[in-house]
Amino acid sequence: TSILIANGPNLNLLGTREPSIYGAETLSDVEDMCRAEADALGVSVSFFQSNHEGALVDVLHDARGTHDGIILNAGAYTHTSIALRDAISGIGLPVVELHVSNVHAREDFRHTSMIAPVAAGVILGFGVQGYPLALRAILGKIGGRAA
Ligand code: DQA
Repeated sequence: TSILIANGPNLNLLGTREPSIYGAETLSDVEDMCRAEADALGVSVSFFQSNHEGALVDVLHDARGTHDGIILNAGAYTHTSIALRDAISGIGLPVVELHVSNVHAREDFRHTSMIAPVAAGVILGFGVQGYPLALRAILGKIGGRAA
């Protein structure tokens, strides 16, 4: 079982970006946490980050045939991107939408997600701990071991 963990715009700044909202852990810390969780679960993980919408569309397309599911923190594109939503619908792989912060406790424009209706599920508000949680959660959607 192979899971893609894809992060969108500004998530490369994790750890230094508004730490009161997003915490002190960096994206590389997140990667370490996910690799440890993946080892414990007996699955493999790949990581991708881009600040570009089209690059995220491409990586979703490329996941067909190479991965069994995707964990996607699309950052601000969550709230705007019909292209990402269509990509998720088009590839037919389970996608867990993830947010570090509780977007519903924040500005109104963060309360809408273009991708939630086509996601297998959503995890948000648990800080970076949401990433390993999402790894467990997605396995339940692809018939893996942990749920
Ligand atoms: C985010 C929430 C989004 O609203 C924001 O634009 C981000 C990060 C989160 O992980 O909490 O860039 O997806």
